Amino acid sequence: MLELKNIRFAIEKGKEEVALLDEIDLRVPTGHFMAIVGPSGCGKSTLLKLIAGINQETSGSIFWNDRNLSEEGDLEAPEIGYVQQFSIAYEALTVEENIEAAVRLRARTESRAAFRNLVDAVLSSTGLEALRDRPVKVLSGGQRRRLSLALELVTDPVLLLCDEVTSGLDPKSEQEIVELMHRLSRNEHRLVVNVTHSLASLELYDSVLVLDAGRVVYHGPPRALEHYFSVEKAEDVYPRLAGRKAGEWASSWSKHREAYYESFAWKAPAAPDVSVSAETPGALAQFLALFLRRWTIFFRDRGQISLQLAILVAFPILVAIFELGGVEQTKRLSDSLPASVEEYHAERESVTFNLNLAGLVSGLAMFQVILLTLMGSNNSAREIAGERHIFEKEKLGGVRPSAYLASKIAYLSVLVTLQSFWMTVFVQAICAIPSQSMLPHFLLLLLVNGAMTAVCLGISSLARSADQASLLSIYLVGFQLPLSGAVLALPEWAGWLTRPFISAYWSWAGIVDGMERDYLRYIRDVTDTWLAPMWLCFLVLVVHVCGGLFVAYVGSRRPKWEN
Ligand SMILES: Nc1ncnc2c1ncn2[C@@H]1O[C@H](COP(=O)(O)OP(=O)(O)O)[C@@H](O)[C@H]1O
Ligand SMILES: [Mg+2]
Repeated sequence: MLELKNIRFAIEKGKEEVALLDEIDLRVPTGHFMAIVGPSGCGKSTLLKLIAGINQETSGSIFWNDRNLSEEGDLEAPEIGYVQQFSIAYEALTVEENIEAAVRLRARTESRAAFRNLVDAVLSSTGLEALRDRPVKVLSGGQRRRLSLALELVTDPVLLLCDEVTSGLDPKSEQEIVELMHRLSRNEHRLVVNVTHSLASLELYDSVLVLDAGRVVYHGPPRALEHYFSVEKAEDVYPRLAGRKAGEWASSWSKHREAYYESFAWKAPAAPDVSVSAETPGALAQFLALFLRRWTIFFRDRGQISLQLAILVAFPILVAIFELGGVEQTKRLSDSLPASVEEYHAERESVTFNLNLAGLVSGLAMFQVILLTLMGSNNSAREIAGERHIFEKEKLGGVRPSAYLASKIAYLSVLVTLQSFWMTVFVQAICAIPSQSMLPHFLLLLLVNGAMTAVCLGISSLARSADQASLLSIYLVGFQLPLSGAVLALPEWAGWLTRPFISAYWSWAGIVDGMERDYLRYIRDVTDTWLAPMWLCFLVLVVHVCGGLFVAYVGSRRPKWEN
């Protein structure tokens, strides 16, 4: 039995408190199929989120089989299934792969056979067996809704909450989905609730709850709906509701409620006290499932593979092109000494030559750094924001933000390492940058790529959309070069103010500090910017990486539901 007692849900609007839901009292037994209907904006989704534990009631209590959820905590993740209108499956994966991932993330299975049985059972209970090998992107609207339901069934939830899962479908598909939900509710431990705007075909529901402006104005069998509102057909209920204030409808209903509840004698079957819900898998299992799924999606996406390959190959070539004129030059500084007037002129020339060369070497290092920051932002800007709606659902289903973030870090680390390694090795082979040792040079490139990837991952976790995250990340990269001070010197005070945040500066300065001493002397002469010692550069870049990851963790944990 699900019972809501005098529930109020209010939000702050300016100084005022606005109640989106008020005085909600209702009881629904398990094994029951309930519709929540009402004009758009009346609070249906808000009520569903409240039951799901996404919204926290301002006052009142919710009970599930005598357990006070408001005091004793919400239902466990595997006990609830929450389905929204929009597909929450990965388009590139097949129906079966999506369900398999859901099982790995949300349900613990004892053996390989049990795992297969569960996947098959879910496929067959939702009529998706014949479609198991189809990629989600080719599914019809109705098939997608089936899949959304299937993903929630992997834990055999006691409470299945569906928000507009039939909206926007043709009448035949709508009917099929309602029949499917009805079938899923014929199970004595489960309660299925469906929010719908449509008042047509309510026959299969055991009860219909009518909401108007955040108040319950009716909750009874569908066949009594017309009688209660004195209308000919159910579709006339909304116009009828508009004729009186919601408060008046609500107070009439509160007088009738107990009589209705008694006459229809909705009784909960003796609450089966067995725990029917699966246990959520451990963090490591979730991490592996997410990591595996990320790579599968990567390899399915031709566009992404081509882009990554193009960037990996083209960017180092771009750096090398700038050096074509001076391939031999970077190899050797000129060191003749004057003994005559002719030699004095020669020396002046050689100093100019050396200064130019120093400029070229420092510029090459900066170019490497900037291209790696660009790769970094491209790696991660959309990574979380682009799948946020799926992630929020999976979090509700028991996926740990830490396991999720760890899978992202592991996936991105592979990209970052490949990109930085190839950038170092290729450019070195062509340009022979005179670093004393290539290891610090490589590590500094790795760290700047890692820092930008981590920071953009942080942005991605906070952004409202993938586009917003991309845009912010591009701005961030765009500011790296001018604010690094490597090309144009900033006013001194501005340099000290911005430099701490500019990853590109620290990577570049560290690389320059690691150049052969003669080169370093000339680079100091052509550069007006303060050059930090290498150890400090490493330190700051590590702080950037950690900072980005910390923000990404906080951003991932924070709930972010689209309304
Ligand atoms: N977090 C929120 N902040 C402000 N207003 C909200 C919030 N959530 C919902 N609302 C408002 O509450 C009302 C009910 O929303 P909702 O429950 O989504 O309606 P519906 O019945 O169409 O599902 C709407 O007017 C909506 O704009
Ligand atoms: Mg809604």
